[in-house]
Amino acid sequence: MGRRRVITLALETSCDETSCAILRGSSQILSNVIASQADLHARFGGVVPEAASRRHVERMVPVIRLALTNAGIGLPQVDLIGVTNRPGLAGALLTGVTAAKALAYALKRPIVAVHHLEGHIYSARLAEPEIEPPLLALVVSGGHTQLVLVERPLEYRLLGSTRDDAAGEAFDKGARLLGLPYPGGPALAQLAESGEAAAAPMPRAWMGESLDFSFSGIKTALRNALADGPLKRPEDYAAGYQAAIVDVLCVKTMRAAEITGVPTVCVVGGVAANGRLRAAIGTAAKARGLRLVVPPPELCTDNAAMIAAAAHARYLLRGGDAMEFDTIPTESLESAASVPA
Ligand code: KG4
Ligand code: ZN
Repeated sequence: MGRRRVITLALETSCDETSCAILRGSSQILSNVIASQADLHARFGGVVPEAASRRHVERMVPVIRLALTNAGIGLPQVDLIGVTNRPGLAGALLTGVTAAKALAYALKRPIVAVHHLEGHIYSARLAEPEIEPPLLALVVSGGHTQLVLVERPLEYRLLGSTRDDAAGEAFDKGARLLGLPYPGGPALAQLAESGEAAAAPMPRAWMGESLDFSFSGIKTALRNALADGPLKRPEDYAAGYQAAIVDVLCVKTMRAAEITGVPTVCVVGGVAANGRLRAAIGTAAKARGLRLVVPPPELCTDNAAMIAAAAHARYLLRGGDAMEFDTIPTESLESAASVPA
């Protein structure tokens, strides 16, 4: 590939976003096209897996074409293909992996299979290219809530995770209880802005000194509060609910930073787009002299640029993967270090 910086084309289809990005080198985003299916799933109140797969198939080629156009390059200029192959909805993952393998085969280029959460962690590198391990990552998405220690590149140690619902899931379920449309997280956050958290306090599940999380109780607390009355303003419930989730995420992240002694903390995943979480962790990190990296909101929610960044890093250290790799609906990030054949 000479001295020219590697051009990576990556695909992300693990859930309900069809995304294709073109990355130059480790962190220069040439394009990052994200076709959301939110409109399709909204009427069902959540993601319908088969509908998601079919929509990915419809959108795949136009999204790839647009990503190339926006980047101002043609397919022959692509050096490396990256794709999310785990974890995620089985059918949705298959669409991206099949397209990526076809591209790699036709172009005779190497391919790298990426763990979705490793992609989220690499979104921090897109925001601040010079950050290096050791670092702590709070990964907060719709399916996962994890505190991950990255001691060396591509090696992940799970310090804590949710024992039930993920933080994003809690946002989505709380939003549904408040009668807000899917996707609930941003809608609840918006409603909360005009509310008063102290007017509708919600419980926090601290789980003792543990770095694990539990977010299912708060959903029940909200359901009971709504059923019992006295009726408070919906925006107060939203604010109280959001404040409880943010509080727990923030306190546990700071505790993990203290225990591990790492200088850098990254907050990634869809929930990292939340304004209150960004502000609270920003204040806490500053008070402790920690370097905090929170990507811009559009890189927090699912996108292929983060997958390209992870694929590129993995390629430089480990080379490409054999074409035969599978899709895996459920797999921990810790096992991401060994790419399944
Ligand atoms: O990382 P992501 O885009 O997809 C998964 O990998 O799951 O995260 C999606 C999650 C959803 O639960 C969504 O409601 C939540 O992130 N989310 C938010 C916000 N934006 C997205 N939650 C709270 N506040 C937001 N602004
Ligand atoms: Zn995600």
